[in-house]
Amino acid sequence: MLTRSALKITAGSVPCNKIGAPKNVLTPFTRIAIVTCVLLFSLPAGAQDPAAGSASNSSVLPSNHIDPLAEQKIDALLRKMTLDEKVGQLVQYSVGQPAGPVVGPTEYTEMIEKGEVGALFNVTSAHDSNAYQHLAVEKSRLHIPIVFGQDVIHGFRTEFPIPLGLASTWDPDLVQKVARVAAREASATGIRWVFSPMVDIARDARWGRMAEGSGEDPYLGSAMARAYVHGYQGEDLSNLDSVAACVKHFVGYGAAEGGRDYNSVEISEHTLREFYLPPFHDAVEAGAASIMTAFDSLNGVPASANPFTIKQILRKEWGFRGLVDSDWTSIAELIPHGIANDPATAARKAFLAGVEMDMVSSFYHDNLAKLVRSGQVPESDVNQAVRDVLRLKFELGLFEHPYADETKEAAAMLQPDSVALAREAAERSFVLLNNSPSSNGSPLLPLSPEVKHVALIGPLADDAANMLGSWSAKSRPEDVVTLRAALVQKLGADRVQYTKGSEITTDSDEQMAEAVKNAKESDLVILALGENAPDMTGEAASRAHLGLPGRQEQLLEAVVATRTPVVLVLFSGRPLTLPWAFEHVPAVLAAWFPGVQAGPALVQTLFGDVNPTGKLAVSWPRAVGQEPLYYDALNTGRPPGNADLTKPPWKGSVKYVSRYIDEQNSPQFPFGYGLSYTSFSFGNPQTSFTPLSATALNRDLRDPARASSVEVTVSSDVTNTGTRTAEETAQLYVRLEGTSTAQPVRALKGFQRVKLAAGETQRVTFKLGPQAFALWDDHNKYVVEPARVKIWISPDSAHGSETTLEISK
Ligand code: NOJ
Repeated sequence: MLTRSALKITAGSVPCNKIGAPKNVLTPFTRIAIVTCVLLFSLPAGAQDPAAGSASNSSVLPSNHIDPLAEQKIDALLRKMTLDEKVGQLVQYSVGQPAGPVVGPTEYTEMIEKGEVGALFNVTSAHDSNAYQHLAVEKSRLHIPIVFGQDVIHGFRTEFPIPLGLASTWDPDLVQKVARVAAREASATGIRWVFSPMVDIARDARWGRMAEGSGEDPYLGSAMARAYVHGYQGEDLSNLDSVAACVKHFVGYGAAEGGRDYNSVEISEHTLREFYLPPFHDAVEAGAASIMTAFDSLNGVPASANPFTIKQILRKEWGFRGLVDSDWTSIAELIPHGIANDPATAARKAFLAGVEMDMVSSFYHDNLAKLVRSGQVPESDVNQAVRDVLRLKFELGLFEHPYADETKEAAAMLQPDSVALAREAAERSFVLLNNSPSSNGSPLLPLSPEVKHVALIGPLADDAANMLGSWSAKSRPEDVVTLRAALVQKLGADRVQYTKGSEITTDSDEQMAEAVKNAKESDLVILALGENAPDMTGEAASRAHLGLPGRQEQLLEAVVATRTPVVLVLFSGRPLTLPWAFEHVPAVLAAWFPGVQAGPALVQTLFGDVNPTGKLAVSWPRAVGQEPLYYDALNTGRPPGNADLTKPPWKGSVKYVSRYIDEQNSPQFPFGYGLSYTSFSFGNPQTSFTPLSATALNRDLRDPARASSVEVTVSSDVTNTGTRTAEETAQLYVRLEGTSTAQPVRALKGFQRVKLAAGETQRVTFKLGPQAFALWDDHNKYVVEPARVKIWISPDSAHGSETTLEISK
């Protein structure tokens, strides 16, 4: 995946290979064609080569070729390297940090000089990275440069919305631009490797890391995964502003039991292939240079020592040629996992399973050479791993350009176009959840600029640091424009009265009383409530309760009780369970953590200069007990159908169906949901197709040259029934019935944004290839089966009318 030819991707492009297409054969599309291509043909769940669909099938070998010239240089270097120097290339440390839970070095100068460190991270200035690089390039025997990595998750200095917010844009093109800016800024400091994108499917809002990914859906997740990879890696990895992507966490990490971070994961091979693997596959197919293994144990085998996922699926079936990195001490963690009783065994198991680089634990540094010398690890395997590290360094051009240009570093940060993009991304990430009529009969939002006096209340109204979200790389609170600052800028200080009301987790009666007083004296309240980004979202931030932290809910209720109209702006890294708020607060906007331009983006949106277009990338629960909650669930043998689940069975509702007795099954807001300041209606979908047979579709699925021989076109009219020009995201969902494995009640297979003037109707058309109808069957093969197919084109995953077609034998 690291060949230069493989990485020559037109800026702004999203390659669109169909199933079975030769890997890395990228077609240059025009922008429109690309978007259409992403919308229509982004590989669906399990878009692996169907011939390689089962664990036992190892016939598909990498088809991407390697640059022979670079390989020769690597060969020459390998010949000169001692075993210890080879192992050194497989060792990675975080600067200034102890090497994990086990005691290890924190100072690496001597090791670098001895060629014992291949990669470093958490070095975030050109001056510092150059200082380390000088040691490697000038003092080490073979002058091999270090590759500097970093968690650049949603921006570097220009902080963008958290990835869950970026996914809510449903705009891969925009996400690609965001990743490009992040690459430009990070590379200016010498960082040429980013630990992103996180493409873990997240179906459980208790898991704090939901904030870091693209939500619950494999199709949307795949589209975003490609966008990040292309944005980071740019046209060519060797460009000095390109950074290598590291796709993480391979695999299953998001399915941690109970939503508790680092917890065990049980996923059947079927579910793994159908839901969890596709975004990884698509990121790999997009040319991702590296992959990071996960912390979890997957079906009893830790992901960082799992030959089935790494060697069989990633290497053999997908032909991945990049670097496989561990997560932070995930090799050392094989001991507490219980599959190794000592560091040497942990190192051996991880390495033989295919983990090539050891992040932080020092277990490779301490044991790998000994394992080779004692014959427990073949040196040829070490050579292969070193080759993959060196290839990355050659591809990045590090041998020719090891140093960052310190004179250009500052200018690369926060460029005006980057900040403008941060604002656009934030605006597009907001999801309008509620907008009910207020006392005058019309929806509360958008606000009138004539509003006389606004009470701005809440711990997040003027909190710059939290706007940066978790993993905020090198961003600084002083770069942020808060909601308070932007509102004052818009209305003038005399029309905005700010009171905090409470802290995020603590409060005082005085604070609350002051806020209530402020609300009573104002014409409108904007309440800014939510989570604390670094402590409550992201890694190691699982929550068993998903309400507002502290007494913020009491604050909300007290303010609503004043009867002054309230707009609630929620800042969070996940959906929050707030049934009372959704019943009593007329306007609620999910703002996630929006980044440096939080305030201006919010003010533009609240006052209607910008129309909300965001759509949920995760199902929004009513209660924690519903988790894991996701739209693409199976129907079960006892679906409740249209039963009224608002009542318990003993009040006349049904009992022996799959339900809760004390809560509805449906989410508060479904996946794909998001309101606008206008309204849209969707017509009945219409299909036009040649008669569909599974045999013909399977031929197309296996042979890309035939892929257009069977084509289904599904169209629907979308009308803007409101009074303002706005954009809607039309979503195409499919359900397969009568197949060998139970299929989801709906599965996203395409989406398109359409811009409509008030009253305008446009027809949206989706062309569906065989992938839209393919599934992982009862033998874990990727096939099309005879089926009844239901299709919706709808504004979200829970609405819209359906059409049906049949796939015959
Ligand atoms: C642990 C996290 O799981 C991973 O996402 C991150 O990239 C590494 N630490 C490095 O910071």
